[in-house]
Amino acid sequence: MRGSQSERRLLPAIALAAGLGAALLALAPAADLPPISEEGHRSLREHPPGPEPDPGPPAGFTGYPDAPQVSVVSRREALSHYPCADCHAHMPANPERRKLSAPHPGLLDHGEGRFWCLECHDADRRNELATLAGDTVSFDRADQVCGQCHGDTHRDWTFGAHGKRVEKWQGERRVYSCAHCHNPHDPAVRPRAPEGPPGIRAGLEPMPDKGRKHPPVYPWQPVDEESGHE
Ligand code: HEC
Ligand code: HEC
Ligand code: HEC
Ligand code: HEC
Repeated sequence: MRGSQSERRLLPAIALAAGLGAALLALAPAADLPPISEEGHRSLREHPPGPEPDPGPPAGFTGYPDAPQVSVVSRREALSHYPCADCHAHMPANPERRKLSAPHPGLLDHGEGRFWCLECHDADRRNELATLAGDTVSFDRADQVCGQCHGDTHRDWTFGAHGKRVEKWQGERRVYSCAHCHNPHDPAVRPRAPEGPPGIRAGLEPMPDKGRKHPPVYPWQPVDEESGHE
């Protein structure tokens, strides 16, 4: 038996819909559509993609799911100019990019001029770092500033594949901050020439075989008479 009863009842409906569709297509204005090529395709160039959607302000970092607990060794006591507010509380922030004089004369050799001091340092609360979204970050958690642009490295560091763990081999992990190893103002690790092998003391000879029998390590073990070993 070919075609059930319900199928047969559907057929006229489908035919009607197809006819309607064709009629609508014929009515639609075809003027602004490019001509169909011989292969039956319209050129893609005639349909440029629309503008990129605005991503909006960056979202704050909330950590990785399933990441192990990490505590970071403090940095603040290692800083020679801290607290910054000792001087900056008496100075208005100057956002102009410029070559600084004392006490911060060094050039910023990071990011090839694509950003400046106030991308990482909070302009108003000078004792703190800042994220690009304007959130305050302690000098002890510089990793949260670095991780905005070095996400892969930051994830590796969080899970223990980059950087150094310094104590607590079980349970909570205690690790060095990015700034323990990288100068944030000039962070690249320069390649170093490999060292030569350690020198060997001259005149060392193999130990002479004195044919001595080794006593058993444990008194209850029998000694092999041939080799002297247990
Ligand atoms: C001994 C005083 C002193 C201390 C301490 C100090 N600064 Fe400054 N800082 C200055 C002076 C002076 C300038 C302006 C230099 C210039 O214009 O050439 C400056 C400029 C800056 C600027 C450039 C932007 C601006 O507002 O002028 C930044 C960023 C900055 N300091 C960050 C810091 C941070 C971060 C600390 C703490 C870790 C710190 N400073 C500690 C004196 C100080
Ligand atoms: C990429 C982010 C970043 C940028 C850009 C940046 N800093 Fe820093 N800066 C840091 C971090 C992180 C520290 C903390 C360093 C540490 O723990 O040793 C720091 C430390 C400092 C200190 C304290 C150093 C000390 O030993 O006392 C000063 C002063 C300072 N920055 C000034 C500046 C100035 C001026 C600029 C612009 C010319 C600048 N920073 C640009 C991230 C940045
Ligand atoms: C605003 C974005 C931004 C922030 C924040 C930032 N970096 Fe960078 N960093 C860059 C860019 C851009 C470069 C240059 C990369 C390049 O040219 O390939 C760079 C280069 C580096 C390099 C050298 C990489 C190489 O292959 O030579 C290191 C290391 C580094 N950053 C570490 C840090 C550390 C540590 C921090 C936090 C204190 C930090 N960065 C914060 C953008 C950033
Ligand atoms: C224990 C020291 C140490 C710590 C902590 C550390 N790094 Fe590194 N990092 C290095 C060394 C060493 C290299 C160079 C590796 C190489 O050349 O293969 C490096 C390389 C890099 C590079 C260059 C690209 C790459 O992966 O080779 C970036 C970017 C970087 N680190 C960012 C960071 C950030 C961000 C943090 C903190 C979240 C961090 N590092 C913490 C020692 C460290």
